[in-house]
Order: sequence, then structure tokens, then C-alpha cells
Amino acid sequence: MTATTTQIKHEVKDLSLAPLGKQRIEWAGREMPVLGLIRDRFAKEKPFAGIRLSACCHVTTETAHLAIALKAGGADAVLIASNPLSTQDDVAASLVVDYGIPVFAIKGEDNATYNRHVEIALDHKPNIIIDDGSDVTVHLVQHRQNQLSDIIGTTEETTTGIVRLAAMFKDGALSFPAMNVNDAETKHFFDNRYGTGQSTLDGIIRATNILLAGKTIVVAGYGWCGKGTALRARGMGANVIVTEINAVRALEATMDGFRVMPMEEAASQGDIFITVTGNKHVIRGEHFAQMKDGAIVCNSGHFDIEIDLKTLGAEASEVRTVRPFTQQYHLKSGKSVIVLGEGRLINLAAAEGHPSAVMDMSFANQAMACEYLVKNKGKLQPGLHSIPVEVDQEIARLKLAAMGINMDTLTSEQLEYINSWTSGT
Ligand code: ADE
Repeated sequence: MTATTTQIKHEVKDLSLAPLGKQRIEWAGREMPVLGLIRDRFAKEKPFAGIRLSACCHVTTETAHLAIALKAGGADAVLIASNPLSTQDDVAASLVVDYGIPVFAIKGEDNATYNRHVEIALDHKPNIIIDDGSDVTVHLVQHRQNQLSDIIGTTEETTTGIVRLAAMFKDGALSFPAMNVNDAETKHFFDNRYGTGQSTLDGIIRATNILLAGKTIVVAGYGWCGKGTALRARGMGANVIVTEINAVRALEATMDGFRVMPMEEAASQGDIFITVTGNKHVIRGEHFAQMKDGAIVCNSGHFDIEIDLKTLGAEASEVRTVRPFTQQYHLKSGKSVIVLGEGRLINLAAAEGHPSAVMDMSFANQAMACEYLVKNKGKLQPGLHSIPVEVDQEIARLKLAAMGINMDTLTSEQLEYINSWTSGT
């Protein structure tokens, strides 16, 4: 039940965890200077005065800084989890106790609770939705048509959410603007690639404590998340195999120096399997049957649909939890398969998600996207909108400045040259 022990509505695991959460939120802030600058500007300009905002994000130390920035800008914001396993309970507690932000998120919440929190996000009657996977936006469109007139727009964080919104638009069901945060270069070049790359390995290591050097790691999918994961796995000394369904990406992975083959062939070779495709049943019955005894499988894609756990469960005579977030499926064949994080995002289930330094840029984009929606209220067409290039560039400039890195500028001669088409050989 919604607790009322403080003035702020909330549903979190334990409010007494707040001091630890506050300490960790402050620590993350050291690596989030760009969002900090935006927060300070928002505090002066109050772009969200009178705006109700519902955010559905992984409740982490980084998301805390986004929520704090939005509140500083005058937003009446509530926060729910975008995944049942990704909430950091201490952060959820601190946001309620120390920052006065209503939070509805508990690590390990069941699907019914997750869905009830989605309802709570919509009960808030948002003008703006910040989504990570599009669950709130989809629920709004499917079940709360009467609230569409309140909506200024939505902002979406992930590739998976953007794919859903694009399908919604194609079906004629997206009747308001949606900011494609994932598309910003300062988002997917860094968050999807270096964030997923590092945090996925971090999740695997924290869950299993195994050595990656010398292992064969199969990465399914060579989008930005797959590229980062494969790159970092190689950096740790693993032999990396990539599986793909897109010919250009398969070629790219090949020329990046990875072995590329169908999962059918990779299944018997891998020690560790990581899915990052955004699609369903990428690892399924016929693959489990060929795996080595003790093969480890996990997922870093948004939803827990990439590994067919139902089929694996049906083949198992026993499932034992052998470490936190680590379950051993003993198969009737006599072999076993290890599943990490119940097939949910391993980087957020067993680790802490992407490091703050990349989330700084992702959430700077989110904050600026919300401001853009408010400033352009009523002027944007329904459908997906890119983050303006100037915003993307400004975020990169601020990040470089914060890192103490200078770059070149064009001379007037160079400027003239690139703007002219007359000079050639
Ligand atoms: N998605 C991936 N990593 C994240 C993090 N640290 N915080 C919020 N959302 C995330």
C-alpha cells in the first residue's frame, strides 16, 4: 500500500536506507557536471512551473540527479521504476526523504506491482512523460485516452522504446510529440556503447566473480550496445563471437575483428552468452541443447524476452539459486545452464547500470528534451522528434569543458573553404 509516513507519497522498500542513498547520490554527482549546470539554470528559470511530469526510469543514483534537476525547474514530478529489478532501494528512499520526490519503486517488485506503479504514474495526470522502454506511454495510449488532452509530449530513452513508438506512429496511434533522446549522438554513442559495454561486464562479474580472460563470449546483436559489449569483452581478454541478422552490422563486426556466425553455430562454442538485440527468443531451446555444461547466459537488452526461459525451465529438473542473481538450471540431459538476473538487464539487476559519466549526457538530453517540449507546446507535430543538433553539440561542449579537454576551431580560411564548392584540384 502507498505509505504516508512522510508528507511525500511513496512506495519504497525502506525509508531508513535514505542516508546511504544520499551519500551515493552525492558521489554520482561528481561525475555529472553537465546535468548539474542544467539543474542550476532550471533552478533560476523554472521552465517546468505548473508542469506535471511522470518519469519511468531505472531508479539509480543517476536518475536521482535527473529527478532533482526537474524538480529544481519547478516540475511536479513523480518517479516509478522502468524495470522490476533495477531499483536501488537506498536511492528511492533518499529521493523521498531528502529531496521530497514521490517515488514508487522497489527492487524485486512483481509484475503486478510494476503495473500498478505504471497506473500511479498516469494517475498523476502528467503533461510530460519521461519513459525508458515506453511502458507508460503505451499504457496511456491503450487505456487512458481521456488523458491525451493533458499531454504535451513524451521523451524516450531507449532503442527498444523508440522501436515501439515508431510502430505506434505507423499504426496512427501516436497523437502527440515524442522526443527521441536515444537518437542524440551524445546519448547513444556513449550510453549505449561505453555504458552498456562496461556495465554489462560489471553485472556479469558481480553476479559470478568469474575470470573473463580466455573465455569465449557470444554477443548477440551488434547495435551500439552490442558494439560496446563486444569491445569491452575483447578488452578483458575474451574471445568474442558476434551474432547478427543485419548484413551491414555483421560485416562491420567482421571488420572490427570479431568472428561472426549464426547462434546455431555459436551455441556450442560459447562460455558466456550476452543478448543485446531488443528481439524475442534470440537464445532458445535448440541453442540450450547444444551449449557446454555450465554455460552462462544473460541479457542486457531492455526486456526479459531475449532468452527463452520458459523452454529452459521446462527442460530443467531443478533450478537452484547459487549466488545472488545467479540461477543454475539442471537439465534433464545431465548438463546445466546458468542464467543471470532472471534474464533481465544484467547491468542493472546485478550491478548499478551505466556509470554516472555517461548518464550525465543521457539525462542532460532528457532534461533538455523536456524543456524543448514545454517551449514548443502546441507547435510540434505528433510523432518522433530528434533532439536539436545544437543541443547535442552543446552537451558535448559542456562535457569536454568539464573534462578539461580543449579542441580546435576552424580558421576563417577553413570556414570559407568548407562553405565553398568552387575550389577543387
Ligand atoms: N540505464 C542504464 N544505466 C542506467 C543508470 N545508471 N541510471 C538510469 N538508467 C540507466
